[in-house]
Amino acid sequence: MPKFYVETYGCQMNFADSEIIASLLQKEGYANTTELTEADYVLINTCAIRDNAEQRIRKRLRELRAAQQHNPKMRIGILGCMAERLQSQLMVEEEIVSFVVGPDSYRRLPEILKQVRQAGVKSAETELSTTETYDDIEPVRLNSNGISAYISIMRGCQNYCAYCVVPYTRGRERSRDPHTIVLEAQHLFDQGYKEVTLLGQNVNSYRWRCEGDEVDFPELMRRVAEVSPRLRVRFATSHPKDLSDKLLEVMSQYDNICKSIHLPVQSGSDRMLKLMNRHYDSAWYLDRIAAIRRYLPDCSITTDVIAGFCTETEEDHQQTLEMFRKVRYDYAYMFKFSMRPNTYAEKHLKDDIDETEKTRRLEEIIALQGKIALENNQLEVGKTFEVLVEGESHRSKEQLFGRNSQNKVIVFDRHNVQPGQYVLVRVKDCTAATLIGELVEQ
Ligand code: SAH
Ligand code: SF4
Ligand code: F3S
Repeated sequence: MPKFYVETYGCQMNFADSEIIASLLQKEGYANTTELTEADYVLINTCAIRDNAEQRIRKRLRELRAAQQHNPKMRIGILGCMAERLQSQLMVEEEIVSFVVGPDSYRRLPEILKQVRQAGVKSAETELSTTETYDDIEPVRLNSNGISAYISIMRGCQNYCAYCVVPYTRGRERSRDPHTIVLEAQHLFDQGYKEVTLLGQNVNSYRWRCEGDEVDFPELMRRVAEVSPRLRVRFATSHPKDLSDKLLEVMSQYDNICKSIHLPVQSGSDRMLKLMNRHYDSAWYLDRIAAIRRYLPDCSITTDVIAGFCTETEEDHQQTLEMFRKVRYDYAYMFKFSMRPNTYAEKHLKDDIDETEKTRRLEEIIALQGKIALENNQLEVGKTFEVLVEGESHRSKEQLFGRNSQNKVIVFDRHNVQPGQYVLVRVKDCTAATLIGELVEQ
């Protein structure tokens, strides 16, 4: 059996896609290997979100040259968002790449691998689709802990935020048949999984219409939550413009829907938000935060932010810091703006904040957020949480780690507990990133 090796970069959706790719290939007689040196086909599932994400792939390709010299039969392919962005040009720029396959063409992979091998030709498939959701493919769980899994509920994005390549690399937004989503969740639960995360670029705009059945995201969450009270349900990502009270209400009705919302703010300045084409302003965003606090008083809130977008002034930057002080996020992914080819920003705006200034602003946000995260965690000391145990702590074999509903990592002494169990843990100490607790007798 020919063997394939998959390496994945980028967001959770790319990781979910790699599991679809593995499924498609296994069905056609290819075997998955985790040993690069054994691979007949090396598949790199790539990300194009920022320039440094692409640079990392270029560097990886230079390293792979050596692996290919040891194993001249090895064929290397680029999949995912960088494949879609650069298409066949990538095979010209990177000689060792034999095939390039975009996110909507994975069904063609078995055939492409055969062509590349038998005819010795190079191949690029990068057509985007308006309908492909891979809804009939049961993903093969790669590097899974057997406890939590991703379920892709939609693909694509058409929000066209001014800075973002995703609409160009992933195509039009489309939702997956809810019946196949619920079946996948049920199947995972039957196999012993305890947690699923529903994935989309903007899950709040999930919508399925078919023969009088209309399912929106709150309704989908309800159906997945009904699979079992012992199956935790999470989701990512919510666009603030579409976060509805109806969703918050459903979240409040089910204990197994985790109390954790990722709500990317991007900037605290109304002028920046408009220029970014985000379709909300700071008042709207703060209103959504207030709604979350109202329906779900113990919900954690996390965000994404970009420092140094085109024309951002010191005042705009200060407004971002102010937003962080107001919301008091539990965690934030913080980025320096990176100009991406073909986006609105690249066509119409200037990348006019120099690198040192971007770095300074980013570091200010990071420092503030670090302080807030620590203070938030200190408020958890003394509380008891239900924790889903995921595995051994990285620091010590004597300790396990897991997460509470709020998605915070908690470490504690293991006693007789096994990964996959739900346990009660009382928090006794913390850092900015981790809660430290002890098991509570049950
Ligand atoms: N669909 C999600 C975001 C997906 S991309 C949403 O809209 O919330 C993840 C994050 O990468 C974004 O939230 C944004 O903060 C960041 N990002 C996207 N494009 C970027 C760029 N050109 N430069 C820097 N950060 C960017
Ligand atoms: Fe990119 Fe905006 Fe779509 Fe998120 S919503 S993927 S930031 S275009
Ligand atoms: Fe990257 Fe594509 Fe995800 S650009 S962030 S892998 S959708």
